[in-house]
Amino acid sequence: MLSGELHGTVLVTGGNRGIGRAIALTLAKSGCNIIFTYNSGTKEATSAEEEILALGVKVKSYRVDLSSTSKLEDFTGKVKESRVRIFALVNNAGIYNGDVLNETNDEEWEKTIGLNLTAPFYLVRNLHSIIEDRGSVVNISSVYGFRADAWAHSYQASKAAIIHLTRSLAKELAPRIRVNCVAPGFIKTDMNREGWTNESFHNKIKKVTPMARWGEVEDIANAVKFLIDPENGFITGETLVVDGGIGL
Ligand SMILES: NC(=O)c1ccc[n+]([C@@H]2O[C@H](COP(=O)([O-])OP(=O)(O)OC[C@H]3O[C@@H](n4cnc5c(N)ncnc54)[C@H](OP(=O)(O)O)[C@@H]3O)[C@@H](O)[C@H]2O)c1
Repeated sequence: MLSGELHGTVLVTGGNRGIGRAIALTLAKSGCNIIFTYNSGTKEATSAEEEILALGVKVKSYRVDLSSTSKLEDFTGKVKESRVRIFALVNNAGIYNGDVLNETNDEEWEKTIGLNLTAPFYLVRNLHSIIEDRGSVVNISSVYGFRADAWAHSYQASKAAIIHLTRSLAKELAPRIRVNCVAPGFIKTDMNREGWTNESFHNKIKKVTPMARWGEVEDIANAVKFLIDPENGFITGETLVVDGGIGL
């Protein structure tokens, strides 16, 4: 294996756009076959598939609402039936909900916790048996898993919980499978488009970020690649903060 090359199949949730797409492309460029999921962005899924295929690796996508337990079970059943072995599972799909206390209804709470926290747990529970020896799980948290705003309670709770879930899963699945996490800062994607397209907010974030810029999706993809690389096989249960120093 040449330096920088990886082997095997990686399953990325939310691989059609944003950070998940960059993870899928970065790992495809490194030699991995890709399975990715998406929820409703079919056009983006088709173009992601084309881009990945052009890199000379295999790709398969599944449309699945991961906030629905029954659809999730159905999805993991299909993956197992396909007899694929997975080198890494990247739990990336997520939604942001910025509601304050009195605006957070039960349904919204459950949806955010369901997609951001329950889905990664179910995916690991249902798929760890088909992860290869020396394989990995990488969860995507957020700097808001550590710091707190006075809103977005479901989002922040889900992102804090997944950091600890990473640690408990790492203990149970060691030494066969490593489980790590990446906590991004402000990254330019659709999730916070309103923020980075607003000049004053864009500049405000730049000003309070020691690295003096917003994050790019590749910043997160490179961190995921580092964590799943067997060369870094003594790292487990860790959360790598990739935020340009904003959380310092
Ligand atoms: N962007 C940031 O600044 C930032 C910072 C910290 C952490 N993060 C985390 O990074 C991860 C990726 O975020 P992003 O910025 O790339 O977000 P994004 O651009 O909004 O993309 C979200 C992804 O999640 C998928 N998704 C949404 N609802 C889903 C559902 N019900 N079932 C299955 N998949 C669903 C979307 O698929 P469709 O296109 O089909 O809807 C899409 O692929 C998230 O976990 C997020 O919390 C992001």
